Amino acid sequence: MARYEIVGGAQLNGSVTISGAKNAAVAILPAALLVNGVCRIENVPDISDVRILVEILRGLGAEVTQPETDVIIIDARNIHTTEPEAALVKKMRASYYLMGALLGRFGNCHVALPGGCSFATRPIDQHIKGFKALGANVEETEEYVALNPGENGLAGNRVCLDMASVGATANIMMAGVLLEGQTIIENAAKEPHIVDLANFLNTMGAHISGAGTDTVKIRGVQSLQGGTYTIIPDQIEAGTYMAAVAAAGGNVLVKNVIPKHMDCITSKLEEMGAEVTAYDDAIRIRSTGKLTATTVKTRPYPGFPTDMQAQICVCMTLAEGLSRLTESVYETRFFGYCTELESMGAKINIVGKTAEVTGREKLKGTTVIARDLRAGAALVIAGLCAEGTTKVENIHFVERGYQNIVEKLTSLGATIRRVDD
Ligand code: EPU
Repeated sequence: MARYEIVGGAQLNGSVTISGAKNAAVAILPAALLVNGVCRIENVPDISDVRILVEILRGLGAEVTQPETDVIIIDARNIHTTEPEAALVKKMRASYYLMGALLGRFGNCHVALPGGCSFATRPIDQHIKGFKALGANVEETEEYVALNPGENGLAGNRVCLDMASVGATANIMMAGVLLEGQTIIENAAKEPHIVDLANFLNTMGAHISGAGTDTVKIRGVQSLQGGTYTIIPDQIEAGTYMAAVAAAGGNVLVKNVIPKHMDCITSKLEEMGAEVTAYDDAIRIRSTGKLTATTVKTRPYPGFPTDMQAQICVCMTLAEGLSRLTESVYETRFFGYCTELESMGAKINIVGKTAEVTGREKLKGTTVIARDLRAGAALVIAGLCAEGTTKVENIHFVERGYQNIVEKLTSLGATIRRVDD
């Protein structure tokens, strides 16, 4: 099993270029199934989740080519099945987007239940509620979801989500773009990748308005044509490098970012003592050598993202005073990494939904296990800060979402290598 070996203590300096957003890419690639033409998608991150999706799309009959590392061309004109290969679907969480895309284009699908990071119970009842509202007949077992048109066929409708679910919002959007009538999603998620998916679909000829607000309106069109689209930069990858600089020290220009998407993360890191300067499409972060305790509560966008919880927690373990980190999206997310950080010397006390973190002067290197993607990223940051060598096991989780993390950190001066024995 592959692992990272990190010798801590080096400051990070120079510049790093952020890749395309994972959570936008994993929605946009399946969304290409809705298009009766050729889609050229640029700024696609080279990560394992994307590679699995490409295999799934090929299995359905799509022609997929990759002329450059970050460019994927998808021609979904000759799809021959609406049942993606279960073994591949189970390898990742975002394969649930195949449901909305296949239902939207072909009116039916048979999709295995998704796998992926299991840091919490992750139900899909809101996705199902949306498909039913659009007229689908839903057969749900412990293994798969099968969708077919119900008695009255499929048509646009109003769906009010119980919570602002990213996955359900994107799935209903995809299911609705080619249906007759209007689909309205109330209490929609507002994450940047929701807006990016809507922009992709609109570029291909869809009529979606309101993405990025509570109410998304989709006026059905007859078909979508091909086109070219560039995925937004990854907010969480950028935040991860910013947290790494804040924790390990140094001065880094983080390039290819949308600074507006970073507001909440930037202001917390500033509060903790880092200096941040935003430019048009880059952010400079400089450590002042001292971190102070803070309070963070994760929230859906534009709040502090749950996907940055673990990384900011590492900053808190080194900040002077008592920090409080409250999780409000996935209550059990702390369990993926807090014990590992404690084995490195961190002092964390979990009380209900809150981690109380008492800052220490340093962490100590040891062997730790990544249990999900962001937990793994946090352990890498901890390793960069720790005295001695940290071995991070289970790095396939990290590679699901971070393109070239070893190369990027090495270019900033870190001592990190990937060992595969
Ligand atoms: N929820 C339900 N029922 C549903 C859907 C969601 O109860 O049908 C609950 C969830 O249990 C959770 C909350 O609603 O408590 C929000 O879940 P959401 O549906 O928004 O999350 P998701 O679509 O499963 C995406 C990202 C996650 C990210 C969350 C929250 C993708 C592929 N995944 O998951 O990303 O944590 O939104 O922002 O976009 C990651 O990148 O590491 C990651 C886990």
